[in-house]
Amino acid sequence: MAGIEFIDHDWTSFLEATTSRGPLEYFHSAMAFVDGHKGAGRQAVDLGCGGGADTRLLLARGWSVLAVDAEPKARLLLEETTPEHHRDRLDIAIGQFHDVDLPQADLVYAQFSLPFAGDHHDEAVSNALAAVVPGGAFVGQFFGANDDWADDAGVAWVDRTWVDRTFSDFTELDVDERDHRGPYGQHGATKRWHFFHVRARR
Ligand SMILES: C[S@@+](CC[C@H](N)C(=O)[O-])C[C@H]1O[C@@H](n2cnc3c(N)ncnc32)[C@H](O)[C@@H]1O
Repeated sequence: MAGIEFIDHDWTSFLEATTSRGPLEYFHSAMAFVDGHKGAGRQAVDLGCGGGADTRLLLARGWSVLAVDAEPKARLLLEETTPEHHRDRLDIAIGQFHDVDLPQADLVYAQFSLPFAGDHHDEAVSNALAAVVPGGAFVGQFFGANDDWADDAGVAWVDRTWVDRTFSDFTELDVDERDHRGPYGQHGATKRWHFFHVRARR
C-alpha cells in the first residue's frame, strides 16, 4: 500500500493522513473489472472506507455507496468532504466488518481492510461476500504469511488455497499475488509486502 500511512493501527491518524489521497492502483484495477466509471444505478460498499477517498471516487462515478468503518472519525471526514450534490447517494455505517448490516451490492470494495478484522476475519469475509449480488463483484486484498504485519495481533493472513476455497462459488476469480519489499507511509519507511489482490465476480 505504497503511499499510505500506517501508524501502529492508530486508525484516526491513518484516516487523517489519507483522506485527501487519490486513487491507488487497486482502485483502478477494480474499476476496470466492473466497468466502474458507469456507476449510475449501481450500489457499492466501501468496506473499511478509512478517510473516505475511495468512497468519494465511487460517488463521483455515479455509484450509490455504503461506506463502512469501525472508526467514528470516518463519518466526520466523509460528512466534511463529500460534495453536497453527492450526499443523497451516500450512506455511512460505523461498525465492525463482521456484524454491520450490508445491502445487496454490485461491488464490495475492501482495500487493505478485511485483514484487520483479526479473530473475526472469517465472519467478516462471509458478511462481505454475502452482500455481492449475482453478476456483482468483490475486489480487495488479503495479507499472506510473509507480510511483515502478518504476525501482528489483530491481523489475519491467508494462503492461496484459502483464496480459492473462499471464492469457489464465484464464476470468475482473478488473483494477483505480490511479495516484495516496498515503501509505506510518508517517511521513507519500507516493509515486506505479501498480499493477494483479489477480483472476483459472482
Ligand atoms: C489499512 S486501512 C484501509 C482504509 C482504506 N480502505 C484505504 O485503503 O485507505 C483499514 C481500515 O479498516 C478499518 N477497520 C479496521 N478494523 C476494522 C473492523 N474490524 N471493522 C471495521 N473497520 C475496521 C480501519 O479503521 C481503517 O480505516
